[in-house]
Amino acid sequence: MKISRMRRYRRTENIRLTFADVGLTLHNLVYPLFILDRIGKARIPVDTMPGINQYSIEAVTEHVAELVNLGVKNYILFGVPSKKDKKGTGAWAKEGPVPQAIERLKDQFGTEITLYADVCLCEYTSHGHCGVLDANGNVLNDESLLPLSKAAVTYANAGADWVAPSNMMDFRVKSIRDALDDNGHKEVAILSYSAKFASNYYGPFRDAAGSAPSFGNRKSYQIDYRNSRQPLREIKNDEMQGADAVMVKPALPYLDIIAKAKERTYLPLYAYNVSGEYSLVKFGAKSGLFDERSIVMENLMAIKRAGADAIISYHVQDIARNNWLEETE
Ligand code: PBG
Ligand code: ZN
Repeated sequence: MKISRMRRYRRTENIRLTFADVGLTLHNLVYPLFILDRIGKARIPVDTMPGINQYSIEAVTEHVAELVNLGVKNYILFGVPSKKDKKGTGAWAKEGPVPQAIERLKDQFGTEITLYADVCLCEYTSHGHCGVLDANGNVLNDESLLPLSKAAVTYANAGADWVAPSNMMDFRVKSIRDALDDNGHKEVAILSYSAKFASNYYGPFRDAAGSAPSFGNRKSYQIDYRNSRQPLREIKNDEMQGADAVMVKPALPYLDIIAKAKERTYLPLYAYNVSGEYSLVKFGAKSGLFDERSIVMENLMAIKRAGADAIISYHVQDIARNNWLEETE
């Protein structure tokens, strides 16, 4: 047997490209937006996420207009409300920042863009948990389903193409599917954050969305990272409840889960390249540890290679503005 000279496949860039079996386009990427409920043009930088801002509706419309021109067509929206309460009633208020932004963006860009609305209570509750609490501060499951479903219907009414429940309450997908159907939204799809781990990588996001829990943590509802089978059961559960797509989150420390999920479901698989993954790269590149484009492309290709069909990432604006997807050596 002749031993293969593997380097023959790597001699020139053109040869290397011939055998690249993983690729990425802007259509595979989803860009997150943080929406303020302020009038006028407001843009507040998120210090822990260089390059990321919270935007008022007027300001986000301009931001999206620039990015749409560059080919960014997929957005996921998070609300940064000025008022919160115990029950998170702002989550389903139709005058809230997210439904208002959806209406405005759909008015302006129509079907050229696809809008995902994150469905959770943590941005809207005074305690910052993803569901409603009992008197002892436990996060109640079944009691959280109605408010979450009302939020999903509010975003669908505003024109969301997808709703994306990130709250990790059991049975959320079925409850939201039923509510959407009952309210005339059979065509609105559900992307479930099925395999969402209780992760330290969400820190910067909680600054961006103002959604850190005021006490305790999310370990009673998000998955323990020491377990590798529950994420797969979560995906199966959500599939049975009618999810149109499922997600693994975070992405880079969980590539094993992405790869396993890919083998076990035929639903589209999303991965969320979360805030902490983004900020590590941004601060690392700023310190001169590595070239930002190179590290971003390696990270995103790795997530794609593991099996993600689509990736939610804060890097999208840099990729689009600087043409990072163009082939170069
Ligand atoms: C809210 C939510 C979180 C993220 C998306 N939706 C944070 C959390 O669960 O605390 C994380 C996103 C990121 O870190 O980029 N349920
Ligand atoms: Zn939440």
